[in-house]
Amino acid sequence: MNILITGGAGFIGSHVVRQLVNKYPNYNIFNLDALTYAGNLENLKDIESATNYTFLKADITDEQAINSLFSKYKFEGVIHLAAESHVDRSIKEPLAFAKTNILGTMVLLNAFKNLWQNNWEGKRFYHISTDEVYGSLGATGLFTETTSYNPNSPYSASKASSDHFVRAYGETFGMPYVISNCSNNYGPNHFPEKLIPLFINNIINNKALPVYGDGLFTRDWLYVIDHARAIDLAFHKGKNGETYNIGGFNEWTNIDLIKLLCTLMDDKLGREKGASEKLITYVKDRPGHDLRYAIDATKINKELGWSPSVTFKEGLEKTINWYLDNKEWLNNVTSGNYKEYYKSQYN
Ligand code: NAD
Ligand code: DAU
Repeated sequence: MNILITGGAGFIGSHVVRQLVNKYPNYNIFNLDALTYAGNLENLKDIESATNYTFLKADITDEQAINSLFSKYKFEGVIHLAAESHVDRSIKEPLAFAKTNILGTMVLLNAFKNLWQNNWEGKRFYHISTDEVYGSLGATGLFTETTSYNPNSPYSASKASSDHFVRAYGETFGMPYVISNCSNNYGPNHFPEKLIPLFINNIINNKALPVYGDGLFTRDWLYVIDHARAIDLAFHKGKNGETYNIGGFNEWTNIDLIKLLCTLMDDKLGREKGASEKLITYVKDRPGHDLRYAIDATKINKELGWSPSVTFKEGLEKTINWYLDNKEWLNNVTSGNYKEYYKSQYN
């Protein structure tokens, strides 16, 4: 079976690629990635020479390149993760998000349809999406699979749009699909523009920790390997035409999470208790900042038997250890263009 994974050089994608390459020696796993600032083949060093793994450098918005790869390799399954993924960047450059997340998804859907529309048996298009499509929760309640879409950022609007196109290809062309909407991931290989890896990097370097607004925004955190396990399960066992919400039942306000991170980092770095907390700096809020996300993951738990395998404290410890053991990875991704990004975002 030829399986295409898009965005496999990124944070979540690299964990999905590793899991499938190691677990399914009978599959040919193709990782298609444009290697934007967020894509890094260093993430896959340990499996790059596996006989069931092939890397394809291509842009999902390049219709000609994508069509010719689909006709050459006849992918029977697609697991689509490639995207522009950072909310702050979507505020600065919304068009790039429309192009990759909407148009890129459509190019893939079209290529898959053109290849298999008379023979859908055994084929599947799996679209990886986010809980941000549902918008913001108030103090109570959880996002379920039937919560209506209400995206607030250009990022979440572009993901919502791509979800709708996937569903439309299912309804209109009979394409077998599954969609999952996941909460905030954290773990090894996370690019240090997102909260947890950015703060770990800044603590290591004794730099200010920029907390947006009052720090009382709430996110539901899930260890990335548990997301990869859920993706494996939903790809193989999920029902056609269904959506699955994935989350950790693990809500934290940003400020509580940051304080926990500071305590764990002081301990790991042998610093005086309270040293890292002194780096906390409240800065201007993100425009359109969603107050709270929280996922009800009952459906995937009941129907597919998935639940998270690590506690938040275990996951955070593993994550911190990974960054401390992989300083070269961190140095490589924070040199060059990252410095420009950091200056324009935080100065
Ligand atoms: P990421 O930014 O770390 O990785 C994205 C990958 O896509 C990179 O390897 C990049 O090179 C590639 N890419 C970007 N544009 C491309 C293009 N035009 N053509 C081909 N490849 C391209 O993202 P991530 O955090 O790993 O997220 C992966 C997916 O999961 C995204 O679809 C995102 O919306 C979704 N998601 C992320 C989270 C999270 O917390 N990170 C949570 C829920 C859902
Ligand atoms: O919910 C799933 C989504 O989670 C994914 O779809 C996105 O791809 C992913 O980036 C993430 O989005 P968030 O906007 O929630 O993640 P981020 O790490 O950017 O921010 C988490 C919270 O921390 C949010 O409330 C904003 C805040 N924050 C973030 C940064 C980068 C800060 O206070 N300071 C910061 O410097």
